[in-house]
Amino acid sequence: MSGEEAPTQLQEEPEQVKGAAVDVQQESGGSGSSSPVAGDAPLSCRALVLTGYGGYDKIKLQVKELQQPRLKPRELLVRVRACGLNFAELLGRQGMYELLPSPPVTMGMEGSGVVEAVGEDVKDRKVGDRVIAMSRSGMWQELVVVPSDRTFPIPDEMSFEEAAALPINYMTAYLMLFEMANLRPGKSVLIHMAAGGVGIAATQLCQTVQDVTIFGTASASKHETIVQGGVAHPIDYRTKDYVAEIRKISPKGVDIVLDPLGGSDTQKGFGLLKPMGMLIVFGAANCVTGQKKNFLAMAKTWYHQLSLSTFKLMQTNKAIAGFHLGHVTNDELLSSTMSKLLDLYKQGKIKPHIDSSFHFEEVAEAMKRMHERQNIGKVILLPDPKKREEKPKSEESEAGEQVEKNEAAVSEKEEEATEEVKAGDD
Ligand SMILES: NC(=O)c1ccc[n+]([C@@H]2O[C@H](COP(=O)([O-])OP(=O)(O)OC[C@H]3O[C@@H](n4cnc5c(N)ncnc54)[C@H](OP(=O)(O)O)[C@@H]3O)[C@@H](O)[C@H]2O)c1
Repeated sequence: MSGEEAPTQLQEEPEQVKGAAVDVQQESGGSGSSSPVAGDAPLSCRALVLTGYGGYDKIKLQVKELQQPRLKPRELLVRVRACGLNFAELLGRQGMYELLPSPPVTMGMEGSGVVEAVGEDVKDRKVGDRVIAMSRSGMWQELVVVPSDRTFPIPDEMSFEEAAALPINYMTAYLMLFEMANLRPGKSVLIHMAAGGVGIAATQLCQTVQDVTIFGTASASKHETIVQGGVAHPIDYRTKDYVAEIRKISPKGVDIVLDPLGGSDTQKGFGLLKPMGMLIVFGAANCVTGQKKNFLAMAKTWYHQLSLSTFKLMQTNKAIAGFHLGHVTNDELLSSTMSKLLDLYKQGKIKPHIDSSFHFEEVAEAMKRMHERQNIGKVILLPDPKKREEKPKSEESEAGEQVEKNEAAVSEKEEEATEEVKAGDD
């Protein structure tokens, strides 16, 4: 995740670089200091690879025959059981996420799985341990090599799906609320995209502090869920002016605004801040309107960006901050935050809300769910092949045609050592 660490390409650069999960396709022999993984049989690894920028069809499911990786000191080989899908990957697919290496690249910033092998000097992880793993890219594959210090033990009561849902959403929400905005009892917070991954995480974390009032914007169909989750004032931003709605309830505005939208919403957020309040800008979702890049939306968002002088800040007694987890370079901060989150989970104070889980073959549907604003909580990707459903004979040919149509995530064979599979083939 660290911003100063260059990530590693999927096929072309097997060399390990800290901060990116490394493709396990490595030269046999490796370096003298590496530890061979037991057994010489080649490994098969399914991976979701971004092959170019654009729509869903740019992500291909590839199956690679791999040589046994040789682990360097303090590295782990992890068999991934679940991965998180983040808004950043929608941006990345469109070429709008600067921390994702250029294609071809295996996507994915977070996942959970089981340790399959450990390198030298790994003291606190062993084969069979269930771990959360983080990386700037490369997590959307069955097998990853990761530095052990980028892994965290999964509590017994936590599922792989929950574990994969935790790192990005909850770390982002935690660091913004507690490290930057210094959330304290009695404050009010405006959470946009309140029914999304970060939104639900932020809502749960706000509730660990007494008497925090949460205003949350979300599509109307999601209000029941977010109210149950702790949002006091849900607002349907699609049909109502959320600024006016908040002013009706709280004429003076709010203490903290978490802004993942950008453009005119940043201006509105600043206007809604009470004196001594803080606006944190952490995304530009307004740039994204669908599967393909929308230059008009990008231009509009940029044009309406909040621009003001420090003098204006002084006159209004307001603070503006920016947050980007990918540029947090303090490893200790990341580790200690993750430990706090795992403690909160064990105490029952936070719990990732899983919206849906999709097999790798269904990555296009998973992304579509987010683009079309259907998700409530986290969308998960599962490396395990999708089991072909038993169908009556008469439906078989129809189903076959459908598979072809749905092949956004799959394409023709591109690389020698790589076989691409079709959705539903297993
Ligand atoms: N800076 C960082 O470090 C960081 C880290 C993580 C996430 N983020 C940002 O936080 C935001 C939320 O990320 P997430 O991964 O948790 O995603 P998410 O909130 O689950 O995203 C999908 C939901 O957002 C809402 N939405 C609003 N505008 C949208 C748009 N233009 N396109 C699609 N959905 C839209 C929809 O809910 P409604 O139907 O309720 O509108 C949709 O269901 C994103 O802007 C992301 O870039 C930033």
